[in-house]
Amino acid sequence: MPELKLIGPFKQLIPMTGLPLKGALADEQLVVLQDAGIIIEGERLKEIGNFQELKAKFNAIQIHELQGDHTCLPGFVDAHTHICFGGTRANDYAMRNSGNTYLEIAKAGGGIWDTVTQTRKVTKTELVKGTIKRANRHLKNGVTTLEVKSGYGLSVAEELKMLYAIKEADEAIPADLITTCLAAHMLPKDYRGSAENYLEEISSKLFPKLKSEKLTNRIDAFVEESAFSTLQIAPYFKKAKEMGFDITVHADQFSTGGSTVAVAFSAVSADHLEVSTDKEIELLANSTVIAIALPGASIGLGCAFTPARKLLDAGGSLAIASDHNPGSAPMGDLLTQAAILGAFEKLSNAEVLAGITVRAAAALKLEDRGKLEEGKLADFSLFHTGNYQEILYNQGNLKPCVVFKRGVKVFDKHK
Ligand code: NIG
Ligand code: FE
Repeated sequence: MPELKLIGPFKQLIPMTGLPLKGALADEQLVVLQDAGIIIEGERLKEIGNFQELKAKFNAIQIHELQGDHTCLPGFVDAHTHICFGGTRANDYAMRNSGNTYLEIAKAGGGIWDTVTQTRKVTKTELVKGTIKRANRHLKNGVTTLEVKSGYGLSVAEELKMLYAIKEADEAIPADLITTCLAAHMLPKDYRGSAENYLEEISSKLFPKLKSEKLTNRIDAFVEESAFSTLQIAPYFKKAKEMGFDITVHADQFSTGGSTVAVAFSAVSADHLEVSTDKEIELLANSTVIAIALPGASIGLGCAFTPARKLLDAGGSLAIASDHNPGSAPMGDLLTQAAILGAFEKLSNAEVLAGITVRAAAALKLEDRGKLEEGKLADFSLFHTGNYQEILYNQGNLKPCVVFKRGVKVFDKHK
């Protein structure tokens, strides 16, 4: 029997329980527990309740009694990142801000292809190191689970290198990394053949490897004029579905089409959606696809935010992720970006917090996290405040002071 730990008291604990997966949320729907405590058993939550009552009820071996006011939230889940890469694209950023568009830079040899070239040049060990460094920074900011995509290899061997690197990084750090294969990020410039040939090669040679090596159960594609069309991607997704993979789509970032494919293939999520119109919003809202807004890409590219308010009002489900990548979203600060999206899109605290916890966990099909209740993973963060509203009000500048992952304290600002 693992020993019991009692942590608390928390002036407020927001368990993010009892919330619907879809639709608008009001702050009144948030459960706010006062003077709460948590009993941890091993890596899971055994009980949540009043701190003094828990102290009397359990003969906890370890008691972490906190001084001052704290608010406790579930560990954040960042459901869309590209933190495994080589090199930098600081020059792309400077060029964009000097008036060149993302697509112009891509055409001139910058953009995704530049990162592919730089990623192919580095060893797997270097990729592991970079991924660990970035994931650990997210962890300090309260992100205890991150999805990480491949997509800068763009050949069977180089995609495998990335996916093995992400796996290795996952094993070396406290945060959980969920891998996704994004071999369909763009048609590699050195590929001798059509987009159809490339996708066929990936699905016939890489997909079976992903299964046999247990590298990932998720297939993503960038559906866009500069990447793959809806027609080109359909047979690829069909094959992926037949093999039992979950589908996720980079959709409606610069032109529409991707969200229609996402709905047609019952994808787990459609991500980006910056240019989705009322038609796409309606389609998504009436489906089981979770919309993922990526405010970090809007901030990085200086373009419109995903129409999050409209999506929620239409009855859709909204998660928020950082899209942390070297090109469009170099910042990599989920809480800051989610708070900013909330201010621009007029989202309630409940909607923003659900978007980076329980709804983000659902987008990754992870039922064991995203909320704090008995049996879930003991993944949570503490903030130095007695009022949860302060967290988004500070727009990312109020960072966690303590982070627990699977029942273990992995970050303490005071130490
Ligand atoms: O999600 N849109 C396509 N892919 C990434 C960008 C990757 C890059 O620019 O390196 C995204 O924004
Ligand atoms: Fe992305």
